[in-house]
Amino acid sequence: MEIVKKEYAKAAKIVPDGYASVNHFFEEVFLDEDMIWMGQNTNELHDEDDIVNAMTRCIEKRQYNKYPPPEGFNELKTLILEDLGLLYRDVEILINAGATESLYLAMNAVLDEGHNVITPDPGYLIIDNFASRFASEIRSIPIYNEECGYKLTPKLVRENMDENTRVILLIDPLNPLGSSYTEAEMKEFAEIAIENDIFLVHDITYRDFADEHFLAVKYAPKNAITMYSFSKSYGLAGLRLGAIIAAPYITNVVKSIIINDVGTNLVAQAGAIEALKTKPHWLDFVKNTTRSNQEIIKAAVDKCEGVFLPVYPSQANMMAIDLSGAGIDPEDMSTYLLSKKIFTRQGSYTSNRFGDNFLRVSFSIAPEKVERFAEEFVKAVEVLRTK
Ligand SMILES: Cc1ncc(COP(=O)(O)O)c(C=O)c1O
Repeated sequence: MEIVKKEYAKAAKIVPDGYASVNHFFEEVFLDEDMIWMGQNTNELHDEDDIVNAMTRCIEKRQYNKYPPPEGFNELKTLILEDLGLLYRDVEILINAGATESLYLAMNAVLDEGHNVITPDPGYLIIDNFASRFASEIRSIPIYNEECGYKLTPKLVRENMDENTRVILLIDPLNPLGSSYTEAEMKEFAEIAIENDIFLVHDITYRDFADEHFLAVKYAPKNAITMYSFSKSYGLAGLRLGAIIAAPYITNVVKSIIINDVGTNLVAQAGAIEALKTKPHWLDFVKNTTRSNQEIIKAAVDKCEGVFLPVYPSQANMMAIDLSGAGIDPEDMSTYLLSKKIFTRQGSYTSNRFGDNFLRVSFSIAPEKVERFAEEFVKAVEVLRTK
């Protein structure tokens, strides 16, 4: 029998030279304990044992013999809503295996044939891919320029939307650039959504790293769908845990399309509950170290002619480094750094249009490792420079 491969918007899976598959590459990089991890926007800065102990207790009691409640433990749901200041709002929260799952469910819930979706380029391309599975058109708006502040603005949205626009995607702060929104911008997005009766899909995966952050759901409670993740500030990426939060009329639809209806990893939920309870103890350390690590990178970039940071300071735990003025192909840069045991990402991972301009690096890691990167990066620019 013949089955046909599905063709959706290009997903960000690039097989590096010399590897049979993306998985093969990842596994090899992952298993190399000396590799400096700046290629995924994860976080190694948690040094407390509380989260580990909570998960260990859960394992020792063999709680994993049972299925968890399908929509998540109430304690976890309440702590997340409290964290966001949404406890007494008319929203519902469903726990799942991460912002990725939430994004897929959101797109599936609200999109249909004939609809178009407005997304930023650069952005997190798997979201465009998910949207393209359900909508007829993805309007990927170029935002890699100073004029718009390296982000999708209300003005750009108004210029690019029409009567078939159903979703505006706000990644906030934005992967890969680290730009984020002011309250005035968020209010304007909310107005656009309410006026046109459309949805704001608000991916707040990197929220905790921002100086200030404004939730779309507070200004457009019936139009916003919020994606929450434990992968970044919480440092729990490998546990695969997150949530989707929206008005009950939206979560009712989400419930009708859920895949894993027997719940989400309960050991991960035990860890997340503890992470939220202890957040006041660790958040400043994670944030401050991430910020001072950016200064190390900025100092290195400033030594390299033709290289610059489009957004600084980044409001997330990653940033883009523009290499175009030095005539360096970001893929060559990431391959070179990999040979020095530093894992980074070429721009094509987050942009089809602008990927040739920049390298993406994350920096929620020990400052000594960032120093190593800084040293190698400056040398690499001189080795690879063509301008
Ligand atoms: C914007 C954005 N959303 C979602 C995710 C994935 O989140 P999760 O690990 O919770 O699925 C990422 C990961 O890099 C991301 O950059």
